[in-house]
Amino acid sequence: MTATKPQQHNKGPTREDSAGSRRQQAIEIAAMGTVYLNGEFVAAEAASISPMDRGFIFGDGIYEVVPVFGGRLFRPGQHLQRLRNSLGAIGLENPLTDSQWASVLQRLVDDAGTDDQYVYLQVTRGVAPRNHAFPDNARPTVFAYAQRMNYATATSAATGIAVITAEDIRWRRCDIKSTALLAAVMLRQQAAESGADEAILVRDGLVTEGAASNVFLVRDDTVVTPPKGPLILAGITRDLVLELAQQHDMALIERAVKENELATAHEIWIASSTNEIKPIIRIDGATVGSGEPGPVFARMYQHYQDYKRAFCEGRVD
Ligand code: PDD
Repeated sequence: MTATKPQQHNKGPTREDSAGSRRQQAIEIAAMGTVYLNGEFVAAEAASISPMDRGFIFGDGIYEVVPVFGGRLFRPGQHLQRLRNSLGAIGLENPLTDSQWASVLQRLVDDAGTDDQYVYLQVTRGVAPRNHAFPDNARPTVFAYAQRMNYATATSAATGIAVITAEDIRWRRCDIKSTALLAAVMLRQQAAESGADEAILVRDGLVTEGAASNVFLVRDDTVVTPPKGPLILAGITRDLVLELAQQHDMALIERAVKENELATAHEIWIASSTNEIKPIIRIDGATVGSGEPGPVFARMYQHYQDYKRAFCEGRVD
């Protein structure tokens, strides 16, 4: 009898697999090109911070993600205002003025080319001996990079995506765009393990938002979304959806949404800077509405794409 090789099923990643994926990740980081770190533009693989940075030790920091279309930052004023709100809420001074932010971010965008991108920026409370309370005189760590957007919005807008529902296990200040994202990470992983793209979160019987997106429901022709408050992030894409609904006479109301409304909604969408607007066609394995992206979504998606085109052509700011 010939000896057969031991089967590798259900064994998890092998040593070679993880070395391969580490190599791939290093290549992707090198491909990021230039990043901004504490006043300097440096190659991504050369950028380094202290392990004692409070962002690393405590997740003590704030971030923003700004989409870039046609080589221009999309809604930078709104993102920088939310950055100020988040920094203010955690008692951290904004290290740069709006015009300094704009020139740092635009330089990263210009270096990254003309494709659709997003800019990630992060401010932490800086390097200090480990002690939970704020340190005296720590200098904030400021980091930013631009990355080509490799999302397939057109495809998922046409086909729809699947989500799960999950208990909202996050803290009670979800309006702060904190880098401490462990709960969101775990919820997204739970979704991924269920073959879904996002987790729709429920707190005390009410829908809050997605792990990294805002949520909209449609009943008949009316769009409904939970109101802003400490339990959700005030999404910039969410604001644009509200503006577009108003401009185009689409009925939209902000009100508390009960969990059981998800099961009877005619349409459900999510929205975020990196996902634009996406229709949900399955929730916890059950079909949403007709099982295809709905007509109200199609209208809103068209308005969003028209707005983006007008922005790229310089017809709107
Ligand atoms: N996340 N809610 C949460 C919890 C989010 O993390 C996000 C965005 C949104 C949508 O906000 P906006 O429309 O401004 O992107 C809502 C970003 C994209 C991220 O963490 O990558």
